[in-house]
Amino acid sequence: MTMGDPGLRRVADPVTQVRTPALEGVVTDLLDTMRALDGVGIAAPQIGLSLRILIVEVGNNPRYPGVAPVPLTIVVNPMITLLGWETDEAYEGCLSVPGQRGLVPRFRRLRYEGFDPSGARIDRVVEGFHARIVQHEVDHLDGVLYPDRMSDPSGLRAESDFGRGTPEG
Ligand code: NI
Repeated sequence: MTMGDPGLRRVADPVTQVRTPALEGVVTDLLDTMRALDGVGIAAPQIGLSLRILIVEVGNNPRYPGVAPVPLTIVVNPMITLLGWETDEAYEGCLSVPGQRGLVPRFRRLRYEGFDPSGARIDRVVEGFHARIVQHEVDHLDGVLYPDRMSDPSGLRAESDFGRGTPEG
């Protein structure tokens, strides 16, 4: 689904049951889509499902030199608590905003909580790139796309201006 589709602008619904075949199916579809598009994150509304599920995964990818890998993390009903007001800016891309990049300020440090698809609790304190991806994906669950977060909306750039190395989620 790409920007302009109203499905990307809805506030997604909470998942009401974990450990179900339906949830496993959604997770498989999300994972396949994210990996096929070489993304570092994805959220269920991006494949047309109004559900509060996100995935983050940063492999040992030459695309992101100097970035610490993030193991595959699937979060159902995620909740963010910001840990400080410090922000930094970096270029982001989005699987739902093809061909574009934008300079986006994000909070540096946060805690995120939720459940994995088997119902186990997730509770992590993260910063930097990992925190950036989580904010990008949680925004998708609230109908927010990264261009909404840019401090200078005229700063959208063509993907072709960049080498590989800008995260897409
Ligand atoms: Ni995105």
